[in-house]
Amino acid sequence: MYDVYAVREDFPVLKEVVYLDSTATTQTPIPAVEAMVEYFYRYAGNHGRGAHRLARETTNRYEDARETVASFLNADPSKTVFTKNTTDGINLVANSYPWEAGDHIVTTMLEHHSNLLPWLRLQKKGVNVTVVSPDRKGIIDPQMIENALTDRTKLIAITQVSNVFGSIQNIKRTTKIARRNGVKTLIDGAQSAGHMPVDLKDLECDFFATAGHKGLLGPQGTGVLYIRQPEILESASLGGGTVSDVSGLSYTLEPSPACFEAGTPNIPGVIGLGRAVEYVEKIGVSEIEKHEAKLSGEAAKRLSELEHVEVYGPENRAGIVPFNVKGLHAHDVALILDQTRKICVRSGHHCAIPITRFLEVDSTVRASFALYNTEEEVDILVNAVNALKALVS
Ligand code: ALA
Repeated sequence: MYDVYAVREDFPVLKEVVYLDSTATTQTPIPAVEAMVEYFYRYAGNHGRGAHRLARETTNRYEDARETVASFLNADPSKTVFTKNTTDGINLVANSYPWEAGDHIVTTMLEHHSNLLPWLRLQKKGVNVTVVSPDRKGIIDPQMIENALTDRTKLIAITQVSNVFGSIQNIKRTTKIARRNGVKTLIDGAQSAGHMPVDLKDLECDFFATAGHKGLLGPQGTGVLYIRQPEILESASLGGGTVSDVSGLSYTLEPSPACFEAGTPNIPGVIGLGRAVEYVEKIGVSEIEKHEAKLSGEAAKRLSELEHVEVYGPENRAGIVPFNVKGLHAHDVALILDQTRKICVRSGHHCAIPITRFLEVDSTVRASFALYNTEEEVDILVNAVNALKALVS
C-alpha cells in the first residue's frame, strides 16, 4: 500500500507549501541531501584524478552512482554519461554528431526548447529540419513521423512526455519506425524517467536524455545521457578527464563515458542523484506512476467541470495538468494561488513557445504532481481555482 504520508516526511518543505511544480523541479528527499552533506564533510576529493584516499573514495562513490542510475534505466554504465541537465545532454548529441549538409532531422512541435533549438541551429550547417504537429490533445501520431522521413533523415528527436500537456507519446512505435528506416532516435526523457518505468534496452532508442532534478529526485545541475553507440560521437567538449594520452599535436580519447565528461563534474550532485535514484527504486516507479496519474486525472476532471476553466491535454496523462482561467492571465492566476493558498504552480509558456501558441494562448497555468502530493492538495487546488470565479464573473 502506497503511503504518501510516510514519503512526505522525507521532504520537509512540503509542510510549508502546496508544491505543484515538480515538472520544473522536484524536491529532493532527505537521504539524498544527507549523501551530499556526507561528501562535503567526510571525503570530498576530485573524481578519477588522485591516488589519495579522498580521491579514491570520491571516485568509487561517483562510479557507484553511475551503476545505480544505469541499472535503474536498464542501460550499460559505460554508455551512461553524467551531464548538467537534459538540455546539456541533447546539446552534447547535437554538437558531437558528424552532421553533413543535406542531412535531415525530424522533431515535433511538442518539444521543449531544449529538444528543438539545438536542431534548428544545425540549419546553419545545411541540416534540414521537419517539425511534426501533434493533435489538439498533444499526441504525436508515429505515422506522421514516418511520413516525414526522407532518405537523408539521420535522427528523430521526440519527447516521451510533454512538459506542457503531460501527454505520453508512443515511443516504442517511433523507435521501431526509426530502426526500420535506418534512422537514429533521441528521446527527451525529462518528464518520464522516475515518473514511469523506463527500460532503455526495451525502448531501443539511440540517445536518451534526462535530468537529475525531476522524476529522479536528485539535485539541480545533474543529468543523464544514454548513448547506445558512443563511438559515433566525437565529444565537442574536451579537456581534463577525457584523454588517455596527449603527445605533440595529437591525443587519444578515453572510452565512453569518460570522453564525454570533460572537466571536474558535479560530484556531490551525482552522488546525491545516485542516492535519490535508490530512493525512487525503493518506493517503486510503477507505484509512483499510478499515484501521480490518479492525482492528475482527478485534478484535470474536477478543474474541467468548472465553467471558468479550460483544461488542456488528453484524458490519460502523466502528472501534468495545464489549464487557464478565462479572463485571467496565467501569471496572475499563479500569483494569486501562491498568495492566497501557498500553492506553487508554474505559469507561462514552459519553455515551449511553439506548442503554447498552437493552443492559441500565450501561456498556461501548470499544476504538476509527484510521488509526495496528496488528494487533499488536489482539493486545495480545485477549491482555490473555483474561488477565482468571483474575479471573472
Ligand atoms: N523543463 C522545465 C519545465 O517544464 C523547467 O518547467
